[in-house]
Amino acid sequence: MQSLLFFLIPLLLPISAAAQSSSNISLGSSLTASNDNPAASWISQSGDFAFGFRQVGDQGFLLAIWFNKIPERTIVWSANRDNLVQRGSKVELTGDGQLILRDSSGKEIWREPPSTGAAYAAMLDTGNLVLASQDSSTMWDSFDDPTDTLLPTQVMSQGTKVIARLTETNYSSGRFMFDLQTDGNLLLYTTTYPFDGANAPYWSTQTSIGSGYQVVFNQSGFIYLTARNGSILNAVTSNNVTAQDFYQRAVVDPDGVFRHYIYPKSSASTGGRWPKAWSFLSFIPSNICLRIRADTGSGACGFNSFCSLGDDQRKLCQCPPGYTFFDPDDVMKGCKENFVPQSCDRAVEEMDLFEFRDMSNTDWPLNDYEHFTSVDEDWCREACLSDCFCAVAIFREGECWKKRAPLSNGRIDPTVGGKALVKVRKDYSDASAGSGSKKKENSTLIYILSATLGGSIFLHLLVTFIFFQRRNQKKQKTVESEKGVPEMNLQDFTYKELEVITGGFKEELGEGAFGKVYKGVLTTENEKPVAVKKLYKAVNEGEQEFKAEISAICRTNHKNLVQLLGFCNEGEHRLLVYEYMSNGSLADFLFRKSRRPNWYKRMQIAFGTARGLFYLHEECKSQIIHCDIKPQNILLDDTFNARISDFGLAKLLKTDQTQTTTAIRGTKGYVAPEWFKNLPITAKVDVYSFGILLLELVCCRKNFEVDATEECQMILADWACDCFRERKLDVLVENDEEAMDDIKRVEKFVMIAIWCIQEDPSLRPAMKKVTQMIEGAVDVSIPPDPASFISSI
Ligand SMILES: *[C@@H]1O[C@H](CO)[C@@H](O)[C@H](O)[C@H]1NC(C)=O
Ligand SMILES: *[C@@H]1O[C@H](CO)[C@@H](O)[C@H](O)[C@H]1NC(C)=O
Ligand SMILES: *[C@@H]1O[C@H](CO)[C@@H](O)[C@H](O)[C@H]1NC(C)=O
Ligand SMILES: *[C@@H]1O[C@H](CO)[C@@H](O)[C@H](O)[C@H]1NC(C)=O
Ligand SMILES: *[C@@H]1O[C@H](CO)[C@@H](O)[C@H](O)[C@H]1NC(C)=O
Repeated sequence: MQSLLFFLIPLLLPISAAAQSSSNISLGSSLTASNDNPAASWISQSGDFAFGFRQVGDQGFLLAIWFNKIPERTIVWSANRDNLVQRGSKVELTGDGQLILRDSSGKEIWREPPSTGAAYAAMLDTGNLVLASQDSSTMWDSFDDPTDTLLPTQVMSQGTKVIARLTETNYSSGRFMFDLQTDGNLLLYTTTYPFDGANAPYWSTQTSIGSGYQVVFNQSGFIYLTARNGSILNAVTSNNVTAQDFYQRAVVDPDGVFRHYIYPKSSASTGGRWPKAWSFLSFIPSNICLRIRADTGSGACGFNSFCSLGDDQRKLCQCPPGYTFFDPDDVMKGCKENFVPQSCDRAVEEMDLFEFRDMSNTDWPLNDYEHFTSVDEDWCREACLSDCFCAVAIFREGECWKKRAPLSNGRIDPTVGGKALVKVRKDYSDASAGSGSKKKENSTLIYILSATLGGSIFLHLLVTFIFFQRRNQKKQKTVESEKGVPEMNLQDFTYKELEVITGGFKEELGEGAFGKVYKGVLTTENEKPVAVKKLYKAVNEGEQEFKAEISAICRTNHKNLVQLLGFCNEGEHRLLVYEYMSNGSLADFLFRKSRRPNWYKRMQIAFGTARGLFYLHEECKSQIIHCDIKPQNILLDDTFNARISDFGLAKLLKTDQTQTTTAIRGTKGYVAPEWFKNLPITAKVDVYSFGILLLELVCCRKNFEVDATEECQMILADWACDCFRERKLDVLVENDEEAMDDIKRVEKFVMIAIWCIQEDPSLRPAMKKVTQMIEGAVDVSIPPDPASFISSI
């Protein structure tokens, strides 16, 4: 009966402290840090949580809250993570109603609430420590001031930061942060350690538009971002956990991954299926090694090290051959070389003293100081060997990049391709060096965190459980995405199979520049719906090239792209099988007559499209220029997330672009002016098209409308530029209340769009800059007038 109450009460009365069953701690009570075992603590009524001092290593004591019924006594909160206290320190709920921590010399370390007047304290069964006034209203609670952990019923409000601890055993503020910013965007960042400033974001809900209000962790294990009105904007995790059977916590782990963990309350209730240990059900981002890629900071691992995911899906930091960790207990401190670096005065003479260790599929992006194209590997080796600045050379498909130390953003992953040539002194001396380089690599594997997680056998079981789908597949290509989509294996279908899948090409979904699209279902995969695209023309290229292109498309995997699942290449039949997008195209969504799509949704679509393009241009292995960005090619998934489709096809089908453009010449469509001139086609053509699309999203109308009320409004780009110049932006969104209320952002987005549609491609920002401008990470300057363009065609 009591346990029933325990679960019902927090549901009904989440905030009011006194209403919950808990033992009150009265004024004048105190606890002292001592080595007694067990030490005195304030325990919640059910016994699930306790508050008191906990010794950490031999460094001192934390004033903490922990799970009190499990042997691990897992700490979920602490008052003094960056300021440990020594034996004899005391925490007291003073007579005038403040909770004060003083160290052994009596110096004050921590105090809450800021003003006096709390009538009592209560350690609640939710894990929340509350200081309440006489009328039981909360004056301060630990839920409002999280460290690295969130618990069920905890709500994160705007401006709240959850900061990882430094290492598994050191609770001080670390290098990664989960932050609901005051502008409503929810992000994972690397911090400017030792400060808590934001360095590089590596995951975000992309709700930078003021809509995010709270992060809620509810009792069934859902963690989601809500709008002010309570509607769900983004599900961070959507595990469905039975709260009676499991303890739960969500933690920004010291390795930067946000994980949702469960622990069975008793083996009886879970049928013994779960080990008595913390196991994680889900985590973001799905591959932190590939997600963190920043100009400053070391990346997901420390400087000079490289990152991969272990079999247990945990982050693994390793040193390259010839390097060792500064501090094996904190691998994030990075690696140092074990040899005397090359002398710059005698670089050429010393060439013979150095050699390379090859590491395939390894890269340290953004560390280049020189880049050469159309060279061979031997050339690349020589060039690095004779250059004292060169620590590592990357060779990939005829291109050579020289990198200097310290190396950052290191990763090893099948999607990287190419190889890294790590320069080492031939006689470098470390214990296991030289002939035993293989042995050495093994010995430097450090499984971060694995210690607290119990046996690796269990981890294997769990991973098998979560990722059982990928086990079913044969040969793998590791493909990474932000959504945790399991690795995808590109399926090679026969034409007959596709006939069955589409029911004889019965249901036509649409027709694009490249072919007709049909709906189908994969009967072998739970009736998963797919879209099958039947390409029009037989491709000129041979089988090998087709396969190569297809696998280049396949290697792309991003939450803003439509994922390619398979293909068929049989005689004249060339077909592509894609994920099915349930909400159709942006064109249908945006230009439907019935109802104007929500302003915030439109802004999210703009951001998603920009992110997807940025990925195609700069983040995937070989750059993909889309060449045909328009609302018809932006599809919307179940959650109206923007997904770019048809990328890679322009190259695959070698379409005669001049022909496509003549059809829309003069209408000032989505096509960049350089198509009409004798100028090289670069990724900036997509930036131009994106600019037009952005205007359409802002104004919710087509780029060209013959029956516009006034002639000057016919061409959207011209009209928008006029309105911007005349400072009459409200005219653009006249009937759109939400946009009118957000006119500053309308102005910003129009400015970004005008930058994108500059006639001179070199004036247009790269997609990276565009995403940063949309995100608010960089300021948008006043764009020049792109109007000269009209006269030039
Ligand atoms: C805790 O103290 C408050 C205020 O004095 C009181 O209203 C409440 O009933 C107490 N709760 C318990 C469980 O004693
Ligand atoms: C945790 O790390 C910080 C920063 O390196 C250090 O000052 C502190 O002593 C460490 N604490 C423990 C308990 O090891
Ligand atoms: C938690 O949130 C999910 C998603 O909104 C909902 O389905 C579920 O019922 C909620 N659980 C509780 C206990 O409120
Ligand atoms: C709540 O707000 C969101 C965006 O802020 C909006 O999309 C949604 O329609 C609103 N829901 C209700 C019920 O008002
Ligand atoms: C969660 O699980 C319960 C019981 O297994 C089920 O009744 C409920 O529908 C599930 N909720 C969701 C949102 O999946």
